[in-house]
Amino acid sequence: MTVLARIDDLYISFGGVAAANGMSFAVNTGEFLAVIGPNGAGKTTALRMVAGILQPDSGRIIFNDRDVTSLPTHVRARLGLGFTHQVVRPFYSFSTIENVMIAAGHRQTESPWRALAGRSREEARMKAAAILEHIGLGEQIDKSPRALPLGQRKRLEVARAIALEPRLLLLDEPLAGLSSAEAATMADLIRTLPASGITVVLVEHNLGEVLRVADRIVVLDAGKVLAEGAPKEVMARDDVRQAYTGVV
Ligand SMILES: Nc1ncnc2c1ncn2[C@@H]1O[C@H](COP(=O)(O)OP(=O)(O)OP(=O)(O)O)[C@@H](O)[C@H]1O
Ligand SMILES: [Mg+2]
Repeated sequence: MTVLARIDDLYISFGGVAAANGMSFAVNTGEFLAVIGPNGAGKTTALRMVAGILQPDSGRIIFNDRDVTSLPTHVRARLGLGFTHQVVRPFYSFSTIENVMIAAGHRQTESPWRALAGRSREEARMKAAAILEHIGLGEQIDKSPRALPLGQRKRLEVARAIALEPRLLLLDEPLAGLSSAEAATMADLIRTLPASGITVVLVEHNLGEVLRVADRIVVLDAGKVLAEGAPKEVMARDDVRQAYTGVV
C-alpha cells in the first residue's frame, strides 16, 4: 500500500477558533476514504487546505511525495488534485456538455476555452460525452445546467471534476440534498472511480452510504483525527458515537 497524500500536523484558525488543531492523516493510493465528523469538525477546511484554497497556519501537505503546502490551487490541480464544492457551480451560460468540455480543455491546454473551438473541440467533445454517458447524463448533454434537477447538477459537478483527470478527487458532501435513491446512485457512481485510477476522499454526513461504500474512514472532531480505520469498527467506537450524539 502506498501513500498518495498526507496531511501532517495542520493548524488553521479563524478569529481564534481552531478549525484544524494538529490534524494528520494519510490517503492511500487507490482507496475510497470517507472523512466524517460532526458539524464544524473541520472536514471542509481539511479539503480546502489540501486543494490549496486555504493556507494552513502551520503543518505540511504532501501529495505524490511532493510538498505542495505552498503551491497555488491551479498548480495543485495540474499535479492531479481535483475538488468539488459543496454548492455546485456550473457555468450556467454553457450547455451541460460544454461545461465538461471546458474542464477537459483545462487538462489539455493553457486556455481551456479552446476546447469549445477549433482542433481541440472534437477531442474534448468526445471525452466529455463519454464521461457524461458514464455518469448517467448521456441524455442531458445539450441542456442548460439550469434545466437539470439538483441530483443531475451534482452529477455534472462530478463529471467536470473527472474531466480534469485527477489522481486524487476530494468530494465535499456530494450526496447532500439528494433523495435516498439519488444518493445511492451517486454513491455507486463515485465508488467506481478508484477502478479508473482516481483515489477518492469523500466528506459526507450520509453515514448509511459511507458505511456501504468506503474502504476506510477518518473521523474528525474539533479539528483533529478522533479515529480511523475500517468503517464498521470505527463506527462501533464509543468515542465516535459520543462525538456525533453527545451521548454514549
Ligand atoms: N472562512 C471561515 N471563517 C470563519 N470561521 C470558519 C471559516 N471556515 C470554517 N470556519 C469555522 O471552522 C470550523 C470548521 O469548519 P468546517 O466548515 O471545516 O466544518 P465541517 O466539518 O465541514 O462542518 P459541516 O459538517 O457543517 O460542513 C467551524 O467552527 C467553522 O465555523
Ligand atoms: Mg463542511
